Amino acid sequence: MIQVADVKVMIGEAEIAERMESLAQEMLPFAKGREVLLVPLLRGSFMFAADLMRALARVGVHPQIDFVTLSSYGAGTQSSGQVVLHSGLTENIEGKYVILVDDILESGRTLAYARKLIKQLGAADVHIAVLLEKPGKRAEAVSVDADYVGFSIEDHFVVGYGLDYANRFRELPYIGFVEGL
Ligand code: IMP
Ligand code: MG
Repeated sequence: MIQVADVKVMIGEAEIAERMESLAQEMLPFAKGREVLLVPLLRGSFMFAADLMRALARVGVHPQIDFVTLSSYGAGTQSSGQVVLHSGLTENIEGKYVILVDDILESGRTLAYARKLIKQLGAADVHIAVLLEKPGKRAEAVSVDADYVGFSIEDHFVVGYGLDYANRFRELPYIGFVEGL
C-alpha cells in the first residue's frame, strides 16, 4: 500500500499559492463586471476551486459557484474513457459567464463532455480553467483546450491538492507524484 511518505513533492504550497494570484489576474479582464459562475467538476477540483475563488475575490471578481460531479477513472490510474455524470447543476446558467474548473486536463474527454453540457444549458460564454495539464495526452478526436492552465506537467500520475489515487491523498497541500505509479 502506498503511503504519504512515498509521495514526492512536484509543486509545493508556496508555488501553488503564488499561481492562484496570477491566475486570478489572468482571468480579470474577461470576468470583470460580469455575472461569473464557477463550475468545479467534483471531486478533484474542490481545493483548486476554493483557492481560485478566494484569489478572484481579492482582485474584485465575485463569482457564484455550482458543482457537477463526473467521473472517468474509477479506482485506477488509467482513464476508462467513459464519462459518467453523477450529479448536475442546481443554478440557472442562462446568460452567465461559466468557468469550468477541473483538476487536470489529460485525454480531454471529461472537459469536452462538461463543456457540451454547459453550452446546451445556455451559458453566454464557457471557459475552462485547469490546475494541471499533461500535454501530449489528449485523446484523438477530442478537441478541447483550456483557457487557463495553472501548471503544465510531465506525464506522471500526480496526487494531492484535490487529486487522488483511489480517493486517497486529496488532502495533501502540495502536488506530488509516486515513482512507479
Ligand atoms: P481526462 O478526461 O482524460 O482529461 O481526465 C481528466 C480526469 O482524470 C481528471 O479530472 C482526474 O480526475 C483524472 N486524472 C487524470 N490524470 C490524473 C493524475 O495524474 N492524477 C489523478 N487524477 C488524474
Ligand atoms: Mg476529475
